[in-house]
Order: sequence, then structure tokens, then C-alpha cells
Amino acid sequence: MTTDKQSKEKADILKAVGAEVIVCPTNVLPEDPRSYYSVAARLAKEIPNSCHMNQYDNLANRQAHYESTGPEIWQQTDGKVTHLVCTAGTGGTITGTAMYLKEKNPNIKIWAIDVYGSLLTKYFRTGEIDMNEVKPYISEGFGEDFVPKNYDMRFIDHFEQVTDRDGAVMARKLAKEEGLFCGYSAGSCLQGLLQLKAQLKKDDLVVCILHDHGSRYVGKIYNDQWMMERGFLEVKTIRDMVSARGAKKLISVEPTHTVADCVELMKKYDIEQIPIMKEGEPIGAISQQGLFKKVFDDPVLKNATVTQVMEPAFPVAPFDTAAEKLRLYITKENGAVMAKDEAGNYHIITKYDVIAALGN
Ligand SMILES: Cc1ncc(COP(=O)(O)O)c(C=O)c1O
Repeated sequence: MTTDKQSKEKADILKAVGAEVIVCPTNVLPEDPRSYYSVAARLAKEIPNSCHMNQYDNLANRQAHYESTGPEIWQQTDGKVTHLVCTAGTGGTITGTAMYLKEKNPNIKIWAIDVYGSLLTKYFRTGEIDMNEVKPYISEGFGEDFVPKNYDMRFIDHFEQVTDRDGAVMARKLAKEEGLFCGYSAGSCLQGLLQLKAQLKKDDLVVCILHDHGSRYVGKIYNDQWMMERGFLEVKTIRDMVSARGAKKLISVEPTHTVADCVELMKKYDIEQIPIMKEGEPIGAISQQGLFKKVFDDPVLKNATVTQVMEPAFPVAPFDTAAEKLRLYITKENGAVMAKDEAGNYHIITKYDVIAALGN
């Protein structure tokens, strides 16, 4: 049983190991018969020998963390932990771990990380279950539209909310800069901690729980397109670079042009490379570097056609390729890449264009 907001990878993994996966709508109230809470409870009654684990209200959830996660953190930090920071969904992880840690040292601060669109933070602060707080959110694995029984707010010192965007961006940063390929909530957890960093002292020992790994989110937060569609990532693409330079026509030559024509164009437009186009498609290229060597060896070549001295055509990349990815196309041998827009026109992006785009 899952919801339509959970990543596809999660359902696919379950199917791969033989589960029947039932996907329920997210944006219905928990008591709605279509919600995954209601469907799970109903199926548990209907299917013989089935069991409804009910991670929300079954206190075995927090008990497991009291018996495992709490002692693990206490032992591994030699009892020096000063703060526990953890995203909160069912409340099992944070409450169970906090119950153990506070028993050992009541001064340990327990910070819960929530998402905007969840009612938990307001409930923590005011005791009010305010359905006006509930909004659809994209973050996965934490935040709630009700208060599960696994919570015992007496063990939690602070609730901090994080936006969908900030959590996703932080997860990517964690992967890229720390080599920790973790899930969405892990990014949110770290983001929440950073929002609270002013409260920390130099010698504090902070433990952050990173609930799951990144492979379940490759189609989401680790996918540039997905991030861009939600406005989470300002990735410069070939499209951006082309539109930034205005409606400039591609300077190219036809197979019948001579080397001298080509040199003329290169001088006129101050460019280092020119694609050779035949019937609108690139068939080769001329670069200053390649040409210099060839004409130096054989000066008569000036009158030859460009096809006689051409180098391989520049690689063609999709129009929405991110600037960061262009180093896969632009190499020592070819200093440019081409891309076709929706109207079928080719554009050229040189290594200088990429340097300029990445530098901005
Ligand atoms: C990815 C992820 N992050 C965070 C949480 C929140 O943990 P808890 O439900 O124990 O509050 C969960 C819970 O399933 C999760 O799957």
C-alpha cells in the first residue's frame, strides 16, 4: 500500500520482490475510504491471515527505536551526543530515540524536522490540529496531515519546517559535496539543521538521522528535468545559452565552399570553428586548429573544398542539456557541440559559451 506521491522506484522495488502494490490518492483526508490508511485497514479485515502493521498508531514503532536507534546513538557517541535532529513522519523514529536518549541525559536536545504543508509543527507549538495548515507537498517520508499515536511531544524540544525546494537542493548537495547519496528527507533533515545552526555551540555533538538512500529518488530529486519543472533548480541549458545571445544565425558552410571561403568567414565573425551543413544537417566541421596544421603542410589546400579537409561533425546534444553536462560532449578534440531547436534549426555552443554560462 502506498500513495501516488511516493517515488515510482519504491513501488517498483516492492513489485520486484513479488508484492502487489496498491497505489492510493494522497490528497484525501486520512478518514476518507480511498486514503491509504483506510484501504490498509479495510484490506487487513478482508484478507485472511493478514496483518495491519499500522506504523502510525502501533507503538511498537517507537519502541523499536527506543530499543535500537537510541542505544546505538548513545553507544557510538560515547554518551556525548548533545542534539538529535530527525525528520518526523509517524513520529516513531524521533519519539522512540528521544525517549531513550532523554532517559540517559535529559539535556539532549531533540529537534524534529517537518515540511511546510504538514500540520505537525503547529500542533507541537499550539496543541491545535489545524487542517488549514495542511497543503499538498512534494517532500517524501515525513510530515503528516494528522497526529499519529507514536508521538509523545514531551520528548521533543523544537519543530522546524523546511520547504520542498530546500530539502531537495540540500539532498543533491549532500550527494555531490559529501558523497552521501541519500533520500529526500535526509536533505530536509540537514537543511533543517542548517536553519538552526545559530543555536549550536562549537563543541556540540549533533546526530542527524538520514533515513534512506538516494537510489529511490533518481527519477525525482536527482533528475535535473524533474527539479527544473518544479522550479527547484536553476540549471542553465543550451536553450538558455542560445536565447541569451539573441536571434543569431548559425554561421556554417556548405560542402561546395572552399577553404578560403571558410577562412574568410572565420575572420569576419571572429570564430574558431564552423560546421559544414548539407541539407540542414551537420556533416563535418572545420576548426582553426585543424585547418592551420593542414594548410601549413599543403598551402594549395586553400582552394580545396571544405569537405576535403573537414573534421568530424560536432556532437549533437539535446536542446535542454544542462551546461554542466556539456563537458561530456566538448572535448580537447572538438571545441563545440551542436543542438537543434524545436523549429529544426541548429545552434552551436562553444567551450567559451559554456565557461561564460557556468561562471554566471
Ligand atoms: C524516507 C523517510 N524519511 C523519514 C521518515 C520519518 O520517520 P518516522 O515515520 O519514524 O517519523 C520515514 C518514515 O517512514 C521515511 O520513510
